[in-house]
Amino acid sequence: MFTIAQISDTHLSDDKPFFVDNFVRIGEALRASRPDLVLNSGDITLDGASNEADLAAARLLHDGLDLPMRFLPGNHDLGDSQDSPGHGEAAIDADRRRRYVSYFGADWWWFDAPGWRVLGLNAQLLGSDLDEAEMQDDAIAEAVGGLGSRRLALFLHKPLFDRTVDEREITGRFVNPVPRRLLLASLDGVTPALVSCGHVHQYRASEAFATRHVWATSTAFVIPDHRQPRYGLKEVGYVEHRLAPDGTHDSRLVRVPGVPTHDIARFPEAYGPM
Ligand SMILES: [Fe+2]
Ligand SMILES: [Fe+2]
Repeated sequence: MFTIAQISDTHLSDDKPFFVDNFVRIGEALRASRPDLVLNSGDITLDGASNEADLAAARLLHDGLDLPMRFLPGNHDLGDSQDSPGHGEAAIDADRRRRYVSYFGADWWWFDAPGWRVLGLNAQLLGSDLDEAEMQDDAIAEAVGGLGSRRLALFLHKPLFDRTVDEREITGRFVNPVPRRLLLASLDGVTPALVSCGHVHQYRASEAFATRHVWATSTAFVIPDHRQPRYGLKEVGYVEHRLAPDGTHDSRLVRVPGVPTHDIARFPEAYGPM
């Protein structure tokens, strides 16, 4: 059994350290449970897209856990997708991406566990005109082409959609319709057993088109209902995935006692008033 502890949306910073305590406490729980891998699925930093010091601080905090670790970038780490409607947020560019990679390593990757191939993608490159978007597409083709009899688990920062693959809205919340279609086409007929993301700061597990879709919540904070609909559970924690060699799998929300669910509206110094 291969276990992945997925943490997400840690939103870490040294000069705005509002969410560091939650990270440290959840880190203690991870050190006690000894998963095979800790995966941070993005928004690792409060504002690494504009502030390199946040990237450095977040990397140090993760190194302090001394656990096997992989990272995927979120919009706050290297800028949002170029096709997301702007809300004054930086968009991904070559410099921001390079800077992220210099702290957290490859922004897409895959590895194998018994019975499984685990593929991690940079969601912000989907729908982007950066050269690296094409390189990521090539990597997807290679990962899927060599899948063999393994099942595919896909991780990326943003959910593919809310309920159905045909949704047409252009949002910053989900992978947008055109890159979604291209991504699914690039899987070349392979149906992932599991797609898991972060970004929404809510936990949800659902089934769609023979795939289990899991949204990992944030370790840090949730977003009030007047700013974001309720899709699932607005509670902080992390997600434990267990991938068995026979291809069966399960995922569950882990709540860590004593870790408060912060409301971002109470931290106007983080991203401005709500
Ligand atoms: Fe986030
Ligand atoms: Fe995000």
